[in-house]
Amino acid sequence: MRFCPAVLAAALVCSFGAGSVLAAENSAVHPGQWPSAHWPLPPDSVLEKRVASLMAKMSVEEKVGQLIQGDILSVTPEDVRKYRLGSILAGGNSKPAGLRIVNAEQWKATADAFYRAAMDTSDGHFAIPLLFGIDAVHGHNNTVGATLFPQNSALGNAHDPELIREIGAATAAEVRATGINWTFAPTLAVPQNERWGRAYEGYSQDPKIVASYATAMIEGLQGKVGTPQFLDSSHVIASAKHFLGDGGTKDGKDQGDTEVSETVLSKLHAAGYVPAIDAGVQTVMASYSSWNGQKMHGYKALLTDVLKQRMDFQGFVIGDWNGHGQVPGCSNDDCPISINAGVDMLMAPDSWRGLYEHTLAEVKSGAIPMARVDDAVARILRVKFRAGLFEAGMPSAQPLAVKSAEVVGSAAHRAVARRAVRESMVLLKNNGGLLPLDPRKRILVAGDGADSISRQSGGWTLTWQGTGLKNEDFPGAQSIGAGIVEQVSAAGGQAEIAADGRYAHKPDAAVVVFGEDPYAEFQGDLPNLLYRPGDNHDLELIQRLHGDGIPVVAVFLTGRPLWVNREINAADAFVAAWLPGSEGGGVADVLLRTRDGHIAHDFRGRLAYTWPRTAVPGQGAPQFPLGYGLSYATNRAALPTLPEVSGISGEQLSVSNYFDRGKAARGYAFSLTGADGGVTAGDVSPATTADGSLRMTALDYKAQEDSRRFSWNKGGAEVAIRAQTPVDLDRQTNGDVLLVTTLRVDALPGRDAWIGMGCGKACQGRVALGAQLAALPPGQWTRMGVPLKCIRAAGADMHHIDKPLVWSAGQGAALTISRVVLGTDVDVVIDCAK
Ligand code: BGC
Ligand code: BGC
Repeated sequence: MRFCPAVLAAALVCSFGAGSVLAAENSAVHPGQWPSAHWPLPPDSVLEKRVASLMAKMSVEEKVGQLIQGDILSVTPEDVRKYRLGSILAGGNSKPAGLRIVNAEQWKATADAFYRAAMDTSDGHFAIPLLFGIDAVHGHNNTVGATLFPQNSALGNAHDPELIREIGAATAAEVRATGINWTFAPTLAVPQNERWGRAYEGYSQDPKIVASYATAMIEGLQGKVGTPQFLDSSHVIASAKHFLGDGGTKDGKDQGDTEVSETVLSKLHAAGYVPAIDAGVQTVMASYSSWNGQKMHGYKALLTDVLKQRMDFQGFVIGDWNGHGQVPGCSNDDCPISINAGVDMLMAPDSWRGLYEHTLAEVKSGAIPMARVDDAVARILRVKFRAGLFEAGMPSAQPLAVKSAEVVGSAAHRAVARRAVRESMVLLKNNGGLLPLDPRKRILVAGDGADSISRQSGGWTLTWQGTGLKNEDFPGAQSIGAGIVEQVSAAGGQAEIAADGRYAHKPDAAVVVFGEDPYAEFQGDLPNLLYRPGDNHDLELIQRLHGDGIPVVAVFLTGRPLWVNREINAADAFVAAWLPGSEGGGVADVLLRTRDGHIAHDFRGRLAYTWPRTAVPGQGAPQFPLGYGLSYATNRAALPTLPEVSGISGEQLSVSNYFDRGKAARGYAFSLTGADGGVTAGDVSPATTADGSLRMTALDYKAQEDSRRFSWNKGGAEVAIRAQTPVDLDRQTNGDVLLVTTLRVDALPGRDAWIGMGCGKACQGRVALGAQLAALPPGQWTRMGVPLKCIRAAGADMHHIDKPLVWSAGQGAALTISRVVLGTDVDVVIDCAK
């Protein structure tokens, strides 16, 4: 995408793509040239006295504890009691023990257990309440039954800060009702490339929209400074994230490098932070990304000189999930550089214990100056005092928590979300005035998205990736199809949902709901803007219905504009519905007339992201510019046929899909290594090593020859999937990502099987499977996951993986494999501690 806001174009500093020229000459930071912000809270001597008197009594151990945040998967209340940690978080996949998804009661119980530990003074410590953080990024999205608002890239199209304020307030109330007091939101990224897997977390590519929403969202979440509601018991602490330049990385690569001038960084990417600070945002999260090659988590000039001094930010800086570990010279459990650069609290999900020990030693040795520690602790304690946490009491006993059943997913909150759905949809095409549809007619709702609350909600929904969910996981929510059926039936028409588009009676019109599968963070990064390369089933569905003489409305569910010119051409009307969340009924509100033929809700959404003309990002003028969007009232003209040249030739290598549906992915191939070391290509089956120790045959699982069976005649032989060029899996390893093999154990006489990855000559990480493989249900298909972290711990260099799968087993073993991918959805996770 190429986009140059007027203010920058005038100064001729806006040059995406070729930006590195300017960047190189301009990496020094000049704080005086940055916009200044004004911390809105007046000096407070009472607060300062409380902070000072508490700090005067704290030991250095207690101070260091305040700087560290652990994740509930790796930290227990007992740990909090012992180490006096300042905070805990629940990451996207982090649930209280054993739960798949979590409801309000379960969150309250978790919050209470940690609160009790933090307030326990039995061993002579001071009671300092905890900050409990969670990613409530489109509503309280990690909670069963919560209101799920449209994702941010949808909300941008509404151009309605008041709506955003209401969403913030509703989200805050739902979070507080579950005993949690801090959300890692809003994202103030200004995404410049839709290939980025987090583009949907940003409101707009236009910094003006991001800035106007920043104020509204922060005031909604925290309450307005100067009113009694500010940080009261129905509000939460907000985090503006990710500081800075997360939306500007080269090629839209998540956690990548933002190669732009200081002017672009300060005017475009920082646009949301000035109003955020003016609105009193209490925390700012550092970005994983770099600016011109230097990691933000170690960038003192930006975190301290610009953010804290020039921009007057007086809250505290929280690090991102092991983000400090990516700073050169640091590791996940040791990083004085980050603290010295200005990060006040480090997010150390699984690394908190080592980080605590190292940080303590570094404070004692002076490597981290005591003054820096005192500044960080004071900032954290001020936030805790301002938020009233010392007086708030047990999380579950707080005003909204005692009535959580009335607050979480309340009718009032759902009404706000439904309005947001209506306001954020953008009408791209309406030839022949097909829309609005008459609800007294016969309507077919087809497509994979017709009845899928998961698909309409996207990532950061109940799970990190938003995958592995069924409609039953969303009590109180409504799918888009269900919303249409409800209104059509009420008006006396007939509507049916059939994902595959098969109908018994020919409908008067069809609504095809289709779009992206859910994803989060780097798992959503794309090589180009093609929608589902190599898979035309949505297009074919639209074409088939149209070919049957049925007028078709296409409703596209997506986190970002993608190249869908063929789908737009094939349909009579085309609606960008983005990721609308739990209130699918909002779509029907706009697509349908009322039963007496009126238009109750016209389209109001206008693009906050340009829509691409080809699948090559940044190429030529957009298909639809910023601000584009039709409405019933004003537009009658037909959209002419759009060009169908994607501009992409050949597919790019996937880093996360190795073998599926009987085929090794492009750029990957099976190879067999005999017990004698001889290598045999495995691209055709059957294949046998020259020494006869390993044999591969093709087998049918769901389709003909869609899987491979490996049988070992001798122990020590290995099967591998080789990559043409090594892939970098470092980012994947930082999360909870697993190497997922869909397999069936046919025979396993011994216990010596292992799985691993290769990383060049004499470089390998192997995880013993032993009894855990034997424990899989014999003869049954299972999705088995091996944490990438285990493979790294076993010695693999995750930056250069040339064999994303290596598997060995003993004599007589036989395994059948149908799929090898990276992912998070599995039946069994291998425990590498065993
Ligand atoms: C993301 C943050 C998020 C954090 C905690 C990180 O990977 O970058 O946006 O707040 O995890 O879940
Ligand atoms: C966590 C997310 C986090 C991500 C970082 C996941 O395991 O659940 O909250 O953002 O890792 O990569």
